[in-house]
Amino acid sequence: MSTIETERPQARYALGHSPEEYDRLRAQARVWEDATGRLLDRVGLGPGASCLDAGCGPGETMRLMAERAGPGGQVLGIDTDTSLGATALAALHDAGHCQCSFHAHDLTCGEPIPGAPFDLVYARLLLFHLPQRAAVLARLWDAVAPGGHLLVQDYDIRGVTVLPALDSVGELDRVITGVFHAVGADVHTGARLPQLFAQAGIGRPDGVDVAGRLEPLATGRAFLERTFRSVLPVALAHGITTSADATGSLAAIDRDAARFADCPMGWPLLIGAWKRKEPA
Ligand SMILES: C[S@@+](CC[C@H](N)C(=O)[O-])C[C@H]1O[C@@H](n2cnc3c(N)ncnc32)[C@H](O)[C@@H]1O
Repeated sequence: MSTIETERPQARYALGHSPEEYDRLRAQARVWEDATGRLLDRVGLGPGASCLDAGCGPGETMRLMAERAGPGGQVLGIDTDTSLGATALAALHDAGHCQCSFHAHDLTCGEPIPGAPFDLVYARLLLFHLPQRAAVLARLWDAVAPGGHLLVQDYDIRGVTVLPALDSVGELDRVITGVFHAVGADVHTGARLPQLFAQAGIGRPDGVDVAGRLEPLATGRAFLERTFRSVLPVALAHGITTSADATGSLAAIDRDAARFADCPMGWPLLIGAWKRKEPA
């Protein structure tokens, strides 16, 4: 069994910045590649477009944007994590997507978004983490060019289920949800996107999309377990679990994943909403 990280200062961003978390983000992005690509196509992203990926993380959506915008387009990723951004940019340039750039920027700081306006402003799994999510959404809308689109995808964790219900899965879910609540995240952000659009003064979305994923517990448990490991330092700091209980929880999911290998496990729902800004 690998060791459990116990020493990290209390962080606002619950998932942290470990190499394991970066790998988890890349794996998660691969899972949702079709669901995101479908919506990029739905809003008509095409050659020559200028795009912003807000909270770009490992840059996997920047790649999908670059493939569509082509060499005549522009793709800017912004994120507070400069190390992850630099790694993402190097990989994109290595793959020939030289129209991509990265800018370190905190979307909660109130400063204007660099490089605005854009034909497409996109954010995935970002607002979930930000207590100021309506204000940030309004800022993203301000960065959309007339005639351009805002497109947001975020989780509603009510999709996380296993049949039959298992205590081991329930415990990981309790800790993960507890951490997100403790840092002011909203685990139902995806379902609330239409309300958030209204609160941000954007109005009703032009469209809403719901994507899900079901896989056997034998493989699906990796999503839960990796998320649990990423949030564990914050869980320990907040007393949501103990080191001994966490070790026991990981052993329990090991046992259940062997015993109930074929049982279906659902991922969080990935909910998308988009809106076109009126042309000038
Ligand atoms: C769960 S990850 C999602 C990454 C990427 N959008 C994806 O779907 O693969 C959230 C990202 O938002 C970034 N982030 C968190 N707070 C931020 C803020 N205030 N401003 C900009 N980026 C932020 C994190 O560093 C992280 O890379």
